[in-house]
Amino acid sequence: MERTLVLIKPDGVRRNLIGEIIRRYEMKGLRVIAIKSLYPSEELVMEHYKEHEGKDFYERLINFLTSGMVIAIVLEGKNAIKCARIINGATKYQDALPGTIRGDFAFDETENLVHASDSLESAEREMKIWFSEIY
Ligand code: PPS
Repeated sequence: MERTLVLIKPDGVRRNLIGEIIRRYEMKGLRVIAIKSLYPSEELVMEHYKEHEGKDFYERLINFLTSGMVIAIVLEGKNAIKCARIINGATKYQDALPGTIRGDFAFDETENLVHASDSLESAEREMKIWFSEIY
């Protein structure tokens, strides 16, 4: 069993896609073991995306993630890290295949609906950032 950190970004909340997105993870056998809604601080989001500091999209990304409510989720299941990323689809909406969350719903480089940890180390780090009260 593996755990991963998933975020439903502010566009997913604004577009009423919370249920649709979670349903897709659950259909694949991933279990929601922690979930919360929050308006993340700039500090929290900067910590989460610190590896991207200095990139041309960094400020846009931070502004976007702090623009509204975010749903933070810990998913557990077999190969949870890889499965969640496959379900999300390619980062760029134009590369995301139909059947994936981004392939079906995303049409913007910044507003791409979801995030999922990309490795075991990232998952451990990100779960601590978003669920400091339990990790
Ligand atoms: S990189 O440089 O290849 O590591 O970047 P990439 O993996 O493609 O993306 C890292 C995260 O940055 C987000 N991103 C953007 N946000 C806003 N605007 C633009 N143009 C943009 N390009 C990339 C991308 O969605 C990734 O966030 P997460 O939450 O991990 O999906």
